[in-house]
Amino acid sequence: MQAVLTTLRDKNTSQIEFRKSLVKLGRALGIEITREMEKEEVEVETPLGAKAKGLKFRDMDKVIIITVLRAGTPLTEGLIKIFYNAKQGVVSARRMDELGMGSGKNFEIEVNYIRLPKISGENIVIISDPMLATGSTISKVTNIVLERARPKKIIIVGAIATKVAIEKIREIERNSEVDVSVYIASIDPEINSRGYIVPGLGDAGDRAFGD
Ligand code: URA
Repeated sequence: MQAVLTTLRDKNTSQIEFRKSLVKLGRALGIEITREMEKEEVEVETPLGAKAKGLKFRDMDKVIIITVLRAGTPLTEGLIKIFYNAKQGVVSARRMDELGMGSGKNFEIEVNYIRLPKISGENIVIISDPMLATGSTISKVTNIVLERARPKKIIIVGAIATKVAIEKIREIERNSEVDVSVYIASIDPEINSRGYIVPGLGDAGDRAFGD
């Protein structure tokens, strides 16, 4: 996972390699998530007529993946390789400053498109967004989910987060009393005045999609 992150951080990584690396990271984090998922023992019969004990994931068919557009798309592509029968939703969110409309200080978020499947208390909702910088976007998207339902669990998947973002997520968890976990490859120390994580990897959307 750290080798993939290094490729993502490297400014000389090409657009194609960057996109592929985000897919790889999504897959690797998906595998990590399965370690925490509830399993039940099952017995199957092999083609040799012998019985074999094994495991089955209890909630595999309850997974919903919500992609934060557009940068979350390659990460979701990797997650889908693990949670292949997940239902999917999208939220399009961007910072007002990207539109030249923000105050330039607090990185207000504009959500301009939401399309989610029905969510219930049985679902495990995975939210895919590679860069959790101020935590404003991920908080907004998590709250959109919580306004609709109280899923069994919310799992936030990203490449890099800051402590500020993690703290905002923890606050949502405390207030909602819904179990919220975060799966990321690194916690980076800083956000610069333009809202970029440092050392970070730059603008994940621009690098994956070619500006
Ligand atoms: N979004 C990005 O793509 N990169 C950052 O560093 C912060 C937010």
